Amino acid sequence: MSLSRGTKPDIQILANDIWAERIPHSEFSALRTHAPVAWFDEPDGNSGFWAVTRLDDLVAIHRDHRTFSSQVGGTELEELERDPEAREARRTMLETDPPEHTRIRKLVSRSFTRRAIAQWESTARALVAESIERAIDERKVDFVDAVARRLPIQMISKLLGVPDRDAEELFHWADSVVYHADPDFSDVLYDKDDTDPYRLLPFRSPNSLKVFAYAKRLASEKKARPEGDVISILAASEDLTPLELQTFFLLLVIAGNETTRHSLSHGALALAEFPDQLHRLQEDPGLLETASEEILRWACPQIHFRRTAVSDTNLAGVPISAGDKVVTWYISANYDENAFTDPFTLDLSRNPNPHVTFGGGGPHFCLGAWLARLEVRVFLDEVAKKIKRVHLNGEPERIRSNFINGLKRLPLELEASR
Ligand code: HEM
Repeated sequence: MSLSRGTKPDIQILANDIWAERIPHSEFSALRTHAPVAWFDEPDGNSGFWAVTRLDDLVAIHRDHRTFSSQVGGTELEELERDPEAREARRTMLETDPPEHTRIRKLVSRSFTRRAIAQWESTARALVAESIERAIDERKVDFVDAVARRLPIQMISKLLGVPDRDAEELFHWADSVVYHADPDFSDVLYDKDDTDPYRLLPFRSPNSLKVFAYAKRLASEKKARPEGDVISILAASEDLTPLELQTFFLLLVIAGNETTRHSLSHGALALAEFPDQLHRLQEDPGLLETASEEILRWACPQIHFRRTAVSDTNLAGVPISAGDKVVTWYISANYDENAFTDPFTLDLSRNPNPHVTFGGGGPHFCLGAWLARLEVRVFLDEVAKKIKRVHLNGEPERIRSNFINGLKRLPLELEASR
């Protein structure tokens, strides 16, 4: 493959069918080496985008919201700048720039600080210990269903104020919204069906309406009887319109669940592939902090997000014009040979570990990072204590998505420590 800087590469990184099979690591390696800022044409009349694949460039973009806007066209590949009505209807804090962004984020940021999240540690530990013990008793399990999907749903439900009885159905709808190109989750496929009738809904997914209706009902209950949870805070705010409250709720339900789930399942898969690393952790629990960060780097559940250049600029020597879409590929940056020694080797003692799993810094840095870190850490701790070895027991199945790097099934056989 020969590419030069800024040329149009003949490489596929967009097709959902590729992602259903594998992570296109070799394609990203070629891009990082030969064309770290590369132009990609798009099908379906979209205008194309710059793919940014190196860690340093991603960080520079995320920290410069004045040049690279989240608000102008949103953060997905879909060009909401061409449909202002849809852009306004679907906007969350993720698709706003400061100062508007600061105003909205401030409403809930206190619930997600390191200190606020630390109070949830014993709850998280009890929940994960219970599901791991049950999985060990079964021995052969689909690890996604048995363990990985449970903890994030239970934790985010508690923080938000979603009653346990509602959680299963709510998160089932949320899965179908974000996995809008996978027929196992969604009846309407984003890249195959006519989704124009749903253009005003997040991810063009009709099931958003079910989540909205639920948010409306829950918020009105919490407004009458506040309980100190996140929905009670949102319901009490004079600052949000009813639609803003609903899109905010959907963002939290999706962001607080999917990505953490995939960190746990990719983490378990990595421990099956690198048994020496599980052994290291068992021998030296002092590695827990660096181990959690390495699992987060390795898993990298968010594949990409997008910004829009608002003025002419230059990235790694490539001229970018105002209005261009700029797409940052977290999953490439986390394996950037310039930032990590032996990036394709799992090293639970890796330090420093400047991964960009939660973003590259700047105003949109993941709100839930401390929650996700807590969940990954207690998960790893309990796995290391209770499971001697993890064996792959069939083919993992990937979600058909170029947006979320996720597993829908992970057949594992677990060997108990005792
Ligand atoms: C391993 C798990 C997680 C990963 C990989 C992840 C990843 C990300 C990424 C990449 C961003 C965008 C950063 C940027 O563009 O600069 C983000 C933003 C966000 N995340 Fe997470 N996240 C995770 C867990 C969570 C959790 C548990 C929550 C729970 C509330 C959450 C809520 C959010 C929200 C609300 C935003 C938007 C922040 C803003 O626009 O200011 N995330 N996350």
